[in-house]
Amino acid sequence: MIDPLLFTTATVAGLYTATRAYQRIQLSLAKHPSLTGHTRMAKRVARMIPGYAYDESRFFDSDEAPLEIVARRRKAFAELCTYYDTHYTHSAALTAQAREGISDLQFTGAYRVPFQYSAYLRRHLRLGSFVRASSGVEVEDLDGNRFLDLTGSYGVNLLGYDFYKECIAAGAAQVQALGPVLGQYHPTVADNVQALRRISGLDEVSFHMSGTEAVMQAVRLARYHTGRTHVVRFPGAYNGWWEDVQPGPGNPLAPRHTYTLRDMHPRTLHVLATRKDIACVVVNPLQALHPNAGAPGDSSLIDSSRRAGVDHEAYARWLSQLREVCTARGIVLILDEVFVGFRLARGGAQEYFGVRADLVTYGKTLGGGLPVGVLCGRADLMKRYREERPVDICFARGTFNAHPYVMGAMNVFLKHLESPTMQALYDGLDERWGRRLARMNDAMAAANLPVRVAGLSSIWTILYNEPSRYNWMFQFYLRRHGLGLSWVGSGRLIFSLNYDDVQFDEVVRRFVAAGLAMREGGWWHAQAGASNRQIRRSVLREMMARRFFGRA
Ligand SMILES: Cc1ncc(COP(=O)(O)O)c(C=O)c1O
Repeated sequence: MIDPLLFTTATVAGLYTATRAYQRIQLSLAKHPSLTGHTRMAKRVARMIPGYAYDESRFFDSDEAPLEIVARRRKAFAELCTYYDTHYTHSAALTAQAREGISDLQFTGAYRVPFQYSAYLRRHLRLGSFVRASSGVEVEDLDGNRFLDLTGSYGVNLLGYDFYKECIAAGAAQVQALGPVLGQYHPTVADNVQALRRISGLDEVSFHMSGTEAVMQAVRLARYHTGRTHVVRFPGAYNGWWEDVQPGPGNPLAPRHTYTLRDMHPRTLHVLATRKDIACVVVNPLQALHPNAGAPGDSSLIDSSRRAGVDHEAYARWLSQLREVCTARGIVLILDEVFVGFRLARGGAQEYFGVRADLVTYGKTLGGGLPVGVLCGRADLMKRYREERPVDICFARGTFNAHPYVMGAMNVFLKHLESPTMQALYDGLDERWGRRLARMNDAMAAANLPVRVAGLSSIWTILYNEPSRYNWMFQFYLRRHGLGLSWVGSGRLIFSLNYDDVQFDEVVRRFVAAGLAMREGGWWHAQAGASNRQIRRSVLREMMARRFFGRA
């Protein structure tokens, strides 16, 4: 005879285990099948990849191109190096000298191209990382070269560098009498808060020193108010470099309280609708351009499989589904607009995609050229203490938050944002950049170049439509033709909105010239039967051989 107590206990335990197992399976199914969806695995794989560098011969023939093509590449590379040496002399010399003491410079310098090519490239092609002036849409280096700026200063430069110089000067004038007094507010703070409340449609504001910190605070508040632990984020999305929103390679710790779930997928909605440990969902709307994929840097450009393109309607629908499930489950929806805020519309991604978030983070351009992070949110979520339990607080400080000079520059920026001039700029913004994108693609097609662009309004990425192992070389031809790119190379172009049509046409002309030179140099030689898959396999084989037999 079975003991009834034992039977009940066993049944409850069985049901509990089965439920947990079911939830675990649902969670696994909601992960994107790529490595970007499996952060633990991605970390493991990253640790297994051996470091090795191509020697001179392999640098030029890693795709086993015919000798004639290899000879063309060698000649073209030598010419490019000579051009860089003679034109970027002072910028490159200071970069070489300063490199030893600037860890960031060492890092970015090493990751401009796939690592196998990096050492040889750095030895021969000397790049400059120092600049001395900016005006209009141009930046000038130490040798007097002027580059049409496509870096957008990581997205800060929305309205042209001259505009931010004015923000900084006029903002400084506003607060000069107070100077760098912290802990009490300059009156501009109150003014900025009113503007931010209007723009975000949210009740309260907190000021921070960077976008990363604003996101940290958003997540911390979500945990405090929901009493739950986990953050949901999406594969490849960048939300700053803080621990819990940046799991996977790059973060020495394994993910603790983060679920990385598939973007734009019903299984994610199912997990959100059923789990009880989720405090918040963090969305970087830039992912609309490449859902489930990481920032397209050239350091991973080993073939031509990079894809991008926005389906505005589908992404807006996705955000509204997220909104719905978050509301139903008491999960905090955080829209991280640090990058795209004010670039897509005055009301940011909320307006652009027609979604209302509980918390919104801003940064970059909002500081009027100075460093900032801002969190706007619903009053109940922004509260950092409880009347009924006064010791249970949600702590957040920051010595430099609401710094008078930052607040001054922000004030000038916000006033401009709400001006009729700015409204005129927003009117038809997407159409304008859509037309420019089409113009660029038409020019590339007319010149028979294997290059196309895709974009979210004024944020673009370069795509390559023929299999090649050398697409990353394109960034050096673009620079050679006077186009300023950030260290991620052709993966991210950020236009400031003060580009006029004539300046834009000049960008197109330089793109075509750079593309023709690249093709002439033999870098886009198409091997018969080559495919992206075959390239990836060959790189994988090479890595395995290197790891297990010590040779490539
Ligand atoms: C969407 C998003 N969130 C957060 C951050 C982090 O901002 P910051 O670099 O100011 O810390 C960035 C920076 O690129 C970003 O693009």
